[in-house]
Amino acid sequence: MRILITGGAGFIGSNFVHYILEKYPDDRVLVLDALTYAGNLDNFSKADGENPNFQFFHGNIIDEELVNELMRNVDTVVHFAAETHVDRSIHEAGAFLETDVLGTYVLLEAARRSAIKRFVHISTDEVYGEAEGEASREGDDLKPKSPYAASKTGADRLAWSYWTTYDLPVTISRCANNYGPLQYPEKLIPLFVTNALEDKPLPVYGHGKNTRDWIYVMDHCSAVDLLLRADADKVCGEVFNVSSECEKSVLDITAIILKALGKPESLINHVEDRPGHVERHAVDPSKLKKALGWKPEYDFEENISKTIDWYRENEAWWRKLKEKQAEYKAWIKEHYGE
Ligand code: NAD
Ligand code: DAU
Repeated sequence: MRILITGGAGFIGSNFVHYILEKYPDDRVLVLDALTYAGNLDNFSKADGENPNFQFFHGNIIDEELVNELMRNVDTVVHFAAETHVDRSIHEAGAFLETDVLGTYVLLEAARRSAIKRFVHISTDEVYGEAEGEASREGDDLKPKSPYAASKTGADRLAWSYWTTYDLPVTISRCANNYGPLQYPEKLIPLFVTNALEDKPLPVYGHGKNTRDWIYVMDHCSAVDLLLRADADKVCGEVFNVSSECEKSVLDITAIILKALGKPESLINHVEDRPGHVERHAVDPSKLKKALGWKPEYDFEENISKTIDWYRENEAWWRKLKEKQAEYKAWIKEHYGE
C-alpha cells in the first residue's frame, strides 16, 4: 500500500506513521506536513529518516499543485492535518477554516481526480457538541460548540459529500480525546505534566468537572488502520466513532498527574472558564466494534502512567516547544490570567 499521511509530523499522525512502518514493512508512507507550531520533525527518529519506505514532504495541504503531485504517487490517504487546539480557535478562527475546511477540500478534489482507493478522513467527537445522557452515536445531531469543532464538522460533512456525490471511497472516524507520547504541550495532559514537572500552576478552566472520553493514541491508530484496509462495502460512506469508553474529569486527570509526580495540590489553579466549554464528550464505539471487530487494547491506568513517565524522561523534546509561542501565550495570559 502507498499511503499519503497528512499531518504526519503532529501528535497522532507521527504515532500512526510509526505504527504503519513497524506493522507493514512493505508499505510506502509519504507524509505531507506544513510544520506549523504543532508539527515537529523531532517526532521522527534517525531510523525513520533512513527508512526507504518513508518520505517527508514539507508543504501545505492547500497547495493544489503539490497535493496533486503527491496524490499521483499513492493509492490511499489518511488525512490527519488540521489546526487542532480549541483555545487557539477561540483566539484566531481563520486558520482553522483555512486548513480544516479548505485544506480538506483540496485533498478531496485531488483524491477524486487520482482514483484513490481509500480516503480515511480523521474527524473528531467534537462534532457532536455536548454528550447528554447516552454517549454520542454516529447518527446523532452535530452541534459543534467551538470554531475548531465547527471547522471539523464542515470537513467531516464535505468528506462524506465526496462519497455521495463522486463515489470517492471515503470513510470517517470520530475519535475521542487521545493521550500518549509526542502530544504538543498545550493540550491538557502534556501541559499539566510538564507544568507540574516545572512546579508551575495547573490552570483548571472553571470548576474542572468537565469530562472527556480518554483513549490511548495507539488504540486510535489501530482503528484507523482497520478503516484503511477494510472491504469498501463495510466502511465507505460510513462514519465510525472511536473510543475506549473511559470518561474522566479534568480534576480526575489533574489528581492522577499530581500523584504520579509527587507534587502538591496547591499547584491547582482554577482560572476563568473556556468560552463555549463542552461539559462532556463521550462516544459510543459499538458500530466500529461490530463492523470490524475493533477493540481497544490499552488500559487507562497503565498507559496514563507510562505517558506521564514519557514526558518526565523526554524533557528535551517538550522544553523547546514550551519556550516558543509568545503571542499565543500572551492571549492565554490575557484570557485566563497568570
Ligand atoms: P496536532 O496539532 O498534534 O498535529 C496536526 C499536524 O497537522 C501538525 O503536524 C501540523 O504541522 C499539521 N498541519 C496543520 N496545518 C497544516 C496544513 N495546512 N498543511 C499541512 N499540515 C498541516 O494534531 P493531533 O492531535 O495529532 O490531531 C490529528 C488529527 O486528529 C486532527 O485532524 C484532529 O482534529 C484529529 N483528532 C484529534 C484528537 C486528539 O485528541 N488529539 C481526537 C480526535 C480527532
Ligand atoms: O475530543 C477530541 C478533541 O480533544 C480533539 O478533536 C482536539 O483536537 C483535542 O485538542 C481535544 O480537545 P479538548 O478541548 O477536549 O482538549 P484539551 O486538552 O484542550 O482540553 C481537555 C479538557 O481540559 C477540557 O475540558 C478543557 C480542560 N483544560 C484544558 C487546558 C489546555 C483545562 O482545564 N486547562 C487547560 O489548560
